[in-house]
Amino acid sequence: MLLYDDVVTEYRDFATYAAGDSPCFEEWALGVADDAVVLAWLAALPPVKRQPNLVFAAARWHGAPAPSPYDTLRTVLLEQEPEVRATVMARATQTNEVGRLATLVPVLGLVDGPLALVEVGASAGLCLFPDRYDYAWPPLGGLRGSGGPLLSTLTTGDLPVPATHPRVAWRGGVDLNPLDVTDADAMAWLANLVWPEQDERRERLRAAVDVARREPPVIREGDLLDHVADLVDEAARHGTPVVLHSAVIAYLEEPDRERFHDLMTGLVAEGRCRWISNEGGRVLPRVTGALEVPSGRFVTALDGTPVAYSHGHGHAIDWL
Ligand SMILES: C[S@@+](CC[C@H](N)C(=O)[O-])C[C@H]1O[C@@H](n2cnc3c(N)ncnc32)[C@H](O)[C@@H]1O
Repeated sequence: MLLYDDVVTEYRDFATYAAGDSPCFEEWALGVADDAVVLAWLAALPPVKRQPNLVFAAARWHGAPAPSPYDTLRTVLLEQEPEVRATVMARATQTNEVGRLATLVPVLGLVDGPLALVEVGASAGLCLFPDRYDYAWPPLGGLRGSGGPLLSTLTTGDLPVPATHPRVAWRGGVDLNPLDVTDADAMAWLANLVWPEQDERRERLRAAVDVARREPPVIREGDLLDHVADLVDEAARHGTPVVLHSAVIAYLEEPDRERFHDLMTGLVAEGRCRWISNEGGRVLPRVTGALEVPSGRFVTALDGTPVAYSHGHGHAIDWL
């Protein structure tokens, strides 16, 4: 799903993406796509602010119960329009989903360590702690002994189960708006971004915030295009720099996505870093190439070469 698509297509795409994971968000997205009044409401927002995750989260922040029928959302959007609009304008969808680590760690296992992780679009930086979780990749195996929470993801294909946890010598990142794991309001907004029926994700988020609070990550504030090369140089002093990102590049406008692809390809070609991307199938078209990405799946790639299709929140990984 791209964020600058026509808004009806965007909401229909989102309904497909949410199907199975959140019946409520699927219903809400389909409801919006067919509702001329709400579409007109959305049209008054800047394009990047019309995204379902943000609009739905803002409505929930202002009391829309979820799960609930579409009409409940509609009432909050239209009757509390100024408050919801203010929240949409002030906040962003910074969903930080640590479950994605279960799809990233097998790829990290292909990189010689010790690793120096550079996460671009890190949000609160919860995905910077791959060494602090246990993993289960049924039916293939897992990794235990971290002392941290368990992340589990279903696998198909010949997933290379790592023999050991990644050794992380350094971790850092950049975000337009880094969220501070010690800030209760910021963490409440993160929890509010978790889809309605997903209590397990809410629980995982709480545990992940606890993990990160023990060693709050240093995340620069700024645009990833301006900071990634510098961060790679800083990381190189500590280990093998690995630039990683998930669910981030869709937020860039198309020319910037192309610039980012060129930048990363250049850094990898110069041997300055490895690059793990985990993005929707249409987000980095030169990475996806001719692959027919199953609906709702991300393409997980190492150095620009796809290695897996991953569930957007890390619930499954299909190794290619
Ligand atoms: C959906 S969140 C994903 C967070 C994290 N990567 C994860 O997988 O849990 C996207 C993040 O990208 C950040 N972002 C979007 N555009 C950015 C840019 N141009 N530079 C830096 N960060 C950006 C947003 O602020 C947000 O925190």
